[in-house]
Amino acid sequence: MYYSEKTLERFKNPKFAGEIKNPDAVGQEGNPICGDVMKIYLKVEDDIIKDIKFETYGCVAAIASSDMMCELAKGKTLEDALKIKPDDIVKGLGKMPLIKHHCSVLGIQALGKAIENYRGSEK
Ligand code: FES
Repeated sequence: MYYSEKTLERFKNPKFAGEIKNPDAVGQEGNPICGDVMKIYLKVEDDIIKDIKFETYGCVAAIASSDMMCELAKGKTLEDALKIKPDDIVKGLGKMPLIKHHCSVLGIQALGKAIENYRGSEK
């Protein structure tokens, strides 16, 4: 099968899809290959990610990977969340088709932008 069972399950039932009203930070990243967009919303308290959600027009890989990324990031400090790597997502979802690599890192990139946005707004 093209995608793992875990990937398809997360795509069908994402836990972190949606918008956070009055977020503390937002980060957006575009996929240069397909033109899809990923947006990450954060609620932060004492440098810890209290809530995180994503919105995207992306594909199965983008949705499942971002949902997995949100699960890994929730409850982490901003510093630790920045250390989430594509391999951590693959560990949670199983193998990702190589051609979908750019989709599967969109969430991580948008999270980086959201944290940058948060840190910029603190100054
Ligand atoms: S094809 Fe656009 S995010 Fe995957």
